[in-house]
Amino acid sequence: MSTEKQITELRIKRSEAELGGGQKRIDAQHAKGKLTARERVNNLLDPNSFEEFDLFVEHNCHDFGMEENIIPGDGVITGCGTINGRMVYIFSQDFTVLGGSLSKTYAEKICKIMDMAIKVGAPVIGLNDSGGARIQEGVDALAGYAEIFYRNVMASGVVPQISAILGPCAGGAVYSPAITDFVMMDKKNSYMFVTGPKVVKSVLNQDVTVEQLGGAMAHATKSGVTHFVTENEEETLLLIKKLLSYIPSNNLEDPPNIPNADPVDRACDNLKNLIPENSNKPYDMLDVIHEIADEGEFLEVSRNYAQNIIVGFARFNGYSVGIVANQPKVLAGVLDINASGKAARFVRFCDAFNIPLVVLEDVPGFLPGPNQEHNGIIKHGAKLLYAFAEATVPKMTVILRKAYGGAYCVMNSRHMRADMVYAWPTAEIAVMGPGGAVEVIFRKEAMASDDPKAALKMREDEYREKFANPYNAAKKGYIDDIIDPSRTRFRIIRALEMLANKKDSIPPRKHGNIPL
Ligand code: HXC
Repeated sequence: MSTEKQITELRIKRSEAELGGGQKRIDAQHAKGKLTARERVNNLLDPNSFEEFDLFVEHNCHDFGMEENIIPGDGVITGCGTINGRMVYIFSQDFTVLGGSLSKTYAEKICKIMDMAIKVGAPVIGLNDSGGARIQEGVDALAGYAEIFYRNVMASGVVPQISAILGPCAGGAVYSPAITDFVMMDKKNSYMFVTGPKVVKSVLNQDVTVEQLGGAMAHATKSGVTHFVTENEEETLLLIKKLLSYIPSNNLEDPPNIPNADPVDRACDNLKNLIPENSNKPYDMLDVIHEIADEGEFLEVSRNYAQNIIVGFARFNGYSVGIVANQPKVLAGVLDINASGKAARFVRFCDAFNIPLVVLEDVPGFLPGPNQEHNGIIKHGAKLLYAFAEATVPKMTVILRKAYGGAYCVMNSRHMRADMVYAWPTAEIAVMGPGGAVEVIFRKEAMASDDPKAALKMREDEYREKFANPYNAAKKGYIDDIIDPSRTRFRIIRALEMLANKKDSIPPRKHGNIPL
């Protein structure tokens, strides 16, 4: 055969392989409103940057007629390419080939790109759309999953891992995305569960739809498994690009600096009258974030889950930061089990990837009650404390209003080694709110007086005067300065510049033992 013929043969083989499960199945995929695995890769990566590996890999299964059912590539597209010029490694599961089900060789393809990504320090992006373990392969498929899980753990904290769920993700397959740093689901076609509605019916005799059990909104609001919900998969692919713009490619790099025109010393005058006179009244912490961040931009993570705390990425003078902020608008911004877990995981991500932390604090304490106690607020709250304490990235806190009790300690206080702590003049830093405090220490005294109510009120005013302000903490050096709210943006940027070369470490150890 002449070389030219061989090249033609290669071209034919390649385009046949690139068709995956064939045109009929591609049409069926489109009919569901889904892109194909290859279209997704092409939409996500920079044009012509995709370098594909293992297009001709075939499975080795000989059971249940599988020797007659061989499709080159075996149901997953793998390789590397660039997003806005930065290298990423990617796999995209092809539902048109045996429902995107995972075989041993399919898993080996994914493992190959994960191993490479760890070696070269590039993010791993997984586009998931699969019926799970390839049933015909039995334990080989399970072994394949376990090899992927192992690599997810080895890559954790070394390179960022992002999972987009763009179709079914069921059975043990959900555990790979669960280990990754960020999970995205679209409202249309994605779902995740360990066991599906049929098993739920047979084991628990409960009727539940796929959406109710494992749809995007269920995981965004109830389980917190997904960090982002999108309207459709096109939006998911754009979101991956946006998220990557805030984070470095590996744990040895700094996040990208993206210059912009927002002045460093822009006064944030809208913040002057933001805090209501009555300190029990709410306001929206998102207004503060949008006011101080570069060009008002904020990429909120886990927006629908534990809304009493806000986490996400913003930029200050082009530098990427992770924001953790109490939300007085929801449950008065109290810390509870879900908020603690949500924020702790985010803090640990930022610390692992050299992203400075900015905390905006207005927290009345931990949520009381048997429900929280019995479900473990002690150990879950401790997670957040642990995460802030062990973080060595530049850390700063701005106390806007309440910083009460254990929550004061936990929320990146000076004592957790925050590098800079600022307070607005409206800050109230104390063991507890004035009302509760005088009830405990002056109730007996008040009861013995002629007018217990007036006596308590007098003591409350005294307590407020003494403790519900930032000056007491400032006298002791627990906060570094009391600042004009309109200067918050400028002071954060200046602190980031001061701390840019911060080097800190924690005692050497195999690993700590965070209360899980
Ligand atoms: C082999 C599979 C498959 C699988 C789907 N297919 N799942 N083949 N192994 N796991 C094949 C189908 O036979 C079909 O082939 C094609 O993919 C498309 O599937 P459909 O059922 O026609 O598609 P749809 O109606 O959209 O339903 C999608 C689905 C359903 C909901 C994902 O296919 C399904 O329930 N699959 C099984 C899910 C499951 O139980 N997986 C195992 C989980 S256990 P043809 O040739 O007919 O087109 C697991 C363990 C992992 O994953 C443990 C790791 C620790």
